[in-house]
Amino acid sequence: MDRIRITGGNELHGIIPISGAKNAALPLMIASLLTDDTLTLENVPHLADVEQLIRILGNHGADISVNGRRERQGESYARTIHFTCRNIVDTTAPYELVSKMRASFWVIGPLLAREGRARVSLPGGCAIGTRPVDLFIEGLAALGANIEIDSGYINATAPTGGLIGARYVFPKVSVGATHVMMMAATLANGTTTIGNAAREPEVVDLANCLNAMGAKVTGAGTSTITIEGVTSLSGARHRVLPDRIETGTYAMAVAMTGGDVILEGTDASLLDTALEAIRRAGAEITPTETGIRVYRNGGGIKPVDVVTDPFPGFPTDLQAQFMGLMTRSNGVSHITETIFENRFMHVQELARLGARITLSGQTAKIEGVPRLKGAPVMATDLRASVSLVIAGLVAEGDTTVSRVYHLDRGFERLEEKLTRCGAIVERVTD
Ligand code: EPZ
Repeated sequence: MDRIRITGGNELHGIIPISGAKNAALPLMIASLLTDDTLTLENVPHLADVEQLIRILGNHGADISVNGRRERQGESYARTIHFTCRNIVDTTAPYELVSKMRASFWVIGPLLAREGRARVSLPGGCAIGTRPVDLFIEGLAALGANIEIDSGYINATAPTGGLIGARYVFPKVSVGATHVMMMAATLANGTTTIGNAAREPEVVDLANCLNAMGAKVTGAGTSTITIEGVTSLSGARHRVLPDRIETGTYAMAVAMTGGDVILEGTDASLLDTALEAIRRAGAEITPTETGIRVYRNGGGIKPVDVVTDPFPGFPTDLQAQFMGLMTRSNGVSHITETIFENRFMHVQELARLGARITLSGQTAKIEGVPRLKGAPVMATDLRASVSLVIAGLVAEGDTTVSRVYHLDRGFERLEEKLTRCGAIVERVTD
């Protein structure tokens, strides 16, 4: 099994191209099930999760071709992928496929809207909390779907004549349930209003793509989204937005090591809150023509308290990385996780590198230490694994991160991007 070995101590200098967002690409790919026409997505990152979803969509009947000519973007390569699902050949998403990635559960929305039925296994994904699906069930039921749970599967059926537009207010903000309800409502009869909708940029990206396909979605990016149902959707061409979590991760890496890096092809407005926290920690961040510049020269890392929240709050997907950064601050910081109840598995691994962190309920207290020391550590989930890489970049000696398949789910060519900026990072295959 692959491991990543990092030899700490080098500053980062250079250019890091930012890939298309995994968490935008996944729902956009799933939206291709809503039409018998071709949906072309540009700037799709090459990640294990994307490959897994390609297999799942193929199982439903999608014909998928990856453009042979890769689009050159700085030093990275983004892919253009065409999805054509003339006929849905199977409305079942089996356990073997869905258990590997939670987002694949989201096919339930398009399958139900287009075919009137779906049988989808209860999901898997990163083990960061219980991650129930009650909001999906309630949202789809509000559109008239009949939903039963049977042997680990959700069986959903639309009324004769299709889903019916409705007003539904989510009791809790959920990115996935917002995606699913928005997709399902595009083909419903009448108008749907989603209250307390997720406002994440990836929701806006999906709404923009659905509208390019002929849907009538307004309000995405606010907490009230309105969808006027249409009878069918067409194909479209859409560019996946830049990955704000990858952007924030590398910004934190530079804040950690010191140095000067341009994060190319990204957009600072996608992660204002996180960038502000990184600034307060002591890094300078300025917009450039092609992205953002992050630099920290000389001064130490200051302690900063953060609380995760749905967008526009501090993203839970950057919590582990920020904790990595805070392990080297010159004071005491607190990080409170409010989205997932079990997203602190990196704490014990960071401790192996010499970090001083104590947990009290959903809050971690991090006492900054003057040095970390390399050690073997284990990745426990996607974002936790990259927090270990950030810590490893400044740890004395070698840090070896095992179970890097977690990293491959969400970070495209991580070791190459860091190595080009002067880090010593290599993949070791046993
Ligand atoms: C999305 O997951 C992201 N995944 C996650 O990123 C991200 O951490 C999360 O949103 C929050 O920002 C993708 O976009 C593919 P939620 P999602 O539904 O949609 C609870 C990463 O590292 N909830 O917004 O699954 C849930 O348990 C991943 O890239 C219910 O209670 O998250 C959580 O506490 C990990 N009932 C909260 O809502 C439900 O039916 C928010 O989860 C659904 C969710």
